[in-house]
Amino acid sequence: MKHASVIGTGSCLPERKLTNFDLEKMVDTSDEWITTRTGIHTRRIAGKGEENYRLATCAAREALAMSGIDAKDIDLIIVATFTPHMMMPSCACFVQAEIGASNAYAYDMNAACAGFLYALDMADKNICSNPDINILVIGSETLSAHVNWQDRNTCILFGDGAGACVVTGGIDGTGIVDSKLCSDGNLWKLLYMHSPKSLNPEIIQEDNNGCHIKMMGRDVFKHAVRAMEEAIVDILERNNLTVNDVDLMIPHQANIRILNKLVERLDVSREKVYINVNKYGNTSAASIPIALDEANRQGKMNRGDLLLFCSFGGGFTWGSMLMRW
Ligand code: UT7
Repeated sequence: MKHASVIGTGSCLPERKLTNFDLEKMVDTSDEWITTRTGIHTRRIAGKGEENYRLATCAAREALAMSGIDAKDIDLIIVATFTPHMMMPSCACFVQAEIGASNAYAYDMNAACAGFLYALDMADKNICSNPDINILVIGSETLSAHVNWQDRNTCILFGDGAGACVVTGGIDGTGIVDSKLCSDGNLWKLLYMHSPKSLNPEIIQEDNNGCHIKMMGRDVFKHAVRAMEEAIVDILERNNLTVNDVDLMIPHQANIRILNKLVERLDVSREKVYINVNKYGNTSAASIPIALDEANRQGKMNRGDLLLFCSFGGGFTWGSMLMRW
C-alpha cells in the first residue's frame, strides 16, 4: 500500500522579531529568565498583511514550487490551526483561493499543537485509499493575536509562522510508516483559549474573559514530557524499532527544557534532534512543518532516512509519527 510521502516543503515567518529584551520592556521578566526556562531568544510577530492565511499561502507556494506540482493538481488542502483570522470561511479556503487550487476541497483542523500531525495522518489515510492524489498539508498560526501581553507566564512563549508540505503516494516503503495520536479532553483546563463571548443571551459563559491562551505551565510541562515519551516508545516498539534506528527527530518546539528532558529519557543522541525553538518560540501547529522545511533545505535528510515526529498541546492532544523520507 502507498503512503503519504513528502515531495515539497515550505515555510513562512513574519518579518518582525520580538526579542527577550523587547519583552523586558513590556512585562516583569528578563532575558536570563526566559532563556534559562524556555531556551527562546526571539519569536516572530505578524504585522499588517501577515494574517494567518497569508503566512499559510506563502508557505504553500514554497512547498508547491519545490514539489513541481501545479496548484490546479492539488486535490485537498488541510490547514491545522486554532488561530484563523476568521472563524468562517476556513483558513484552508482562503489558501485555496489565493493559490488557485480550483480542483481542491479545503478545510481546517484544530488539534492545537498536535494539529500538524493530526492533519498529516488524515492526509495519509486519504492517500492510502487514493494514492494518486496530491494533498497540501499546512500548519499555520498567529498566536500573537491570542496572547495576553500583560501575562508574563504566557506572552514570552509563543510566536507566529506557517509551514507546509505537499504529499502524495510515494514509492513503496517510503512515506508515513505509522502514527499514534492521542487526546484527553478531561485535562482541558490546564491549557485553553475561550471563543469570543457568546452573543446568545441564553448561553453566556460567566468565566469567558477573552480569547487568550491560558496555561498551567508546570502541569503542562510534566504531562508533555511523559505523554510524548510514551507515544514515542510505543510507536517504536510496535514497529520493532529503537531510537537508534531514527535518523532525525523533529519534535514540536515548545520549550528547550521539555526537549532536553525528552532527549534524556529516550537516550537519543542530541545531534539527531532538530531544534529551532530559540528562533521562533512555540508556534503551535506550525512548529513541526517549519522545522521540517528548515531541515529539508539544510540537507539534513537523505532518501530512506527514518524521521520521528512528536507533539503535545491543548486538549490535551498529542502523538508521534514515523516517516521514511
Ligand atoms: O505546546 C505545549 C504548550 N506549553 C508548553 O509546553 C509550556 C510548558 N511549560 C513550561 O514551559 C514552563 O512551565 C514555563 C516556561 C511556562 C514556566 O516555567 P516554570 O519553571 O514552570 O515556572 P513557574 O510557572 O513554576 O513559575 C516560577 C516563577 C513564578 O514566580 P514565584 O511564584 O515563584 O514567585 C512565576 O511567577 O517564575 C515566575 N515567572 C516569571 N518570572 C519572570 C513566570 N513567568 C515569568 C517570566 N519572567 N516571564
